[in-house]
Amino acid sequence: MRPKACIFDLDGVIVDTAKYHYLAWKRLAKELGFEFTEKDNERLKGVSRMESLEILLSVGGIKIEDQKLKEQLSDKKNNWYVEYISQMTKDEILPGVEEFLRKLKNAGIKIAIGSASKNTMTILRRIELVDLFDSIIDGTKITKAKPDPEVFLKAAEELNVDPKDCCVFEDAVAGIEAAKSAGMKVIGVGDHEILKDADRVITSFVGHGIELVEF
Ligand code: BG6
Ligand code: MG
Repeated sequence: MRPKACIFDLDGVIVDTAKYHYLAWKRLAKELGFEFTEKDNERLKGVSRMESLEILLSVGGIKIEDQKLKEQLSDKKNNWYVEYISQMTKDEILPGVEEFLRKLKNAGIKIAIGSASKNTMTILRRIELVDLFDSIIDGTKITKAKPDPEVFLKAAEELNVDPKDCCVFEDAVAGIEAAKSAGMKVIGVGDHEILKDADRVITSFVGHGIELVEF
């Protein structure tokens, strides 16, 4: 069955911003006096900024009760992150993504962004993809983070499409759970082992046509 809409996570699906998030969190960990590994960073994928900070602090064995201080730390990380992404270009769109998006649009399938990131618009502007999407739901428009389905349900609502007619693309376990709770089909982008709960898993968009979403 062909979906009426496809909803794309941004970080790790459209662009590889995970590396910039990692650089910024690592820099913060270093300032706080501990190492933050790439393996630790896996746990931050799909997770909101504040929850990411909590995970980072637990890795470093640091307990902070002061909410203001936590906000200062996450702002610091975000300022570094914004500095990194402000240099992004269209070249950083992951291979095959733009072609695939255009194939969906040509087939009359609506496309949306469903991301936890409050930096979504900055990134989409940098990679010049803002106008391609029929709806953009990002971290500034939601109150509940993935695995809550809010972000995907909002996108479906804005597109005026029933959730069961939507197919989500996700690279994070929390995102796959969110799509399933929304009653949507979900295609994992990345490692088969990690994303085993998805209906299908791809490692890249290269060479895929709309038959990928027809199931
Ligand atoms: C998600 C990323 O898309 O957005 C997470 O996978 C990130 O790593 C989250 O923490 C929030 O992003 P931002 O840009 O609002 O800090
Ligand atoms: Mg992601």
